[in-house]
Amino acid sequence: MEKSTAKTPLTAKNEPIDLILRPKAWREYVGQEKIKRHLLIMLEAAKKRGETCDHLLFYGQAGLGKTTLAHLVAEQLGAKLKVTAGPALEKMADLAGVLTNLEKGDILFIDEIHRLNRMIEEVLYPAMESRKLNIVVGKGPGARTLSLDLPAFTIVGATTRANLISAPLRSRFGASFRLDYYETPDIEAIINRSAGLLGLKIVPEGAAMLARASRATPRVANRLLKRLRDYMEVHSIDCADPATVKKTLDLLEIDERGLELHDRLLLETIINKFKGGPVGVATLAAALNDDRGIVEDVYEPYLLSIGFLKRTQSGRVATEAAYEHLGHDLYEKRSV
Ligand SMILES: Nc1ncnc2c1ncn2[C@@H]1O[C@H](COP(=O)(O)OP(=O)(O)OP(=O)(O)O)[C@@H](O)[C@H]1O
Ligand SMILES: [Mg+2]
Repeated sequence: MEKSTAKTPLTAKNEPIDLILRPKAWREYVGQEKIKRHLLIMLEAAKKRGETCDHLLFYGQAGLGKTTLAHLVAEQLGAKLKVTAGPALEKMADLAGVLTNLEKGDILFIDEIHRLNRMIEEVLYPAMESRKLNIVVGKGPGARTLSLDLPAFTIVGATTRANLISAPLRSRFGASFRLDYYETPDIEAIINRSAGLLGLKIVPEGAAMLARASRATPRVANRLLKRLRDYMEVHSIDCADPATVKKTLDLLEIDERGLELHDRLLLETIINKFKGGPVGVATLAAALNDDRGIVEDVYEPYLLSIGFLKRTQSGRVATEAAYEHLGHDLYEKRSV
């Protein structure tokens, strides 16, 4: 058997790091307290009644912990988690295959559920409501609908784009949970937990600095920690202090608020080309030579959350905080 050393206690097992870092118990799932409380009540109540839990929807930005939560829900219910995704359920046969393979009590995790097509959604409605799978057999006047009974199961849907989920689908979930960006102390706790699992030493000020650059997102925090680990390995550093963290962030071209090149470019474009805004998102995306969807879904949410960007009726506006952060004279903004 492999003996783990003090420096690399868990990674010595050669498991993928992301799996090692994923919380496996509720107490390891940091933050999102309201969601955890509400969910645990639902899960306990279902368990006590011996019923399957209502269908659940998790939505929020990438990397905030939706998939992790789905695993914890299955764990809590002692249920098997079967995983699929919206784009994988393209044809009726794909969905029928998944549904008819379910066993009583199973959890069906549908990631990117906003990408289900209309036809599949319509087959899903009766399956979610009354556990019926209706299949049309044959064509034309001789076509018949076969109705199959499905075992009791729970769908856990996850999406980064809740606004793209149709109202009828959304209404079939017993509860929807919006995962928000994390508070900095929670991200710090995640960094310290992950550092412990990786056998990495980091001083509290170093962890705090890394947390501020993590875009309030656990996945980003873990990613930055992995890059810090690389830096420490190469430079034979035993314990990371703020200077080590700063050097790692500089190498990645990430600033102390977690802004990457594309974030700074977006803000600079609004400031320099559009006098600070307002500028419509389509015009902004064209000026950045980027896809509008990427601008709206990937770049903007964090900038909005830290108050560097504002959405107004007439378009996007760079805020005073953004001017200050990027070292632009505030007079520039006030004088336009
Ligand atoms: N609350 C948390 N506490 C500790 N670690 C977390 C938490 N949430 C997420 N993580 C870590 O962040 C990683 C990303 O989380 P996860 O894969 O669940 O995000 P997601 O919301 O499903 O993202 P995506 O939308 O990209 O699928 C996990 O592997 C886990 O290690
Ligand atoms: Mg996920």
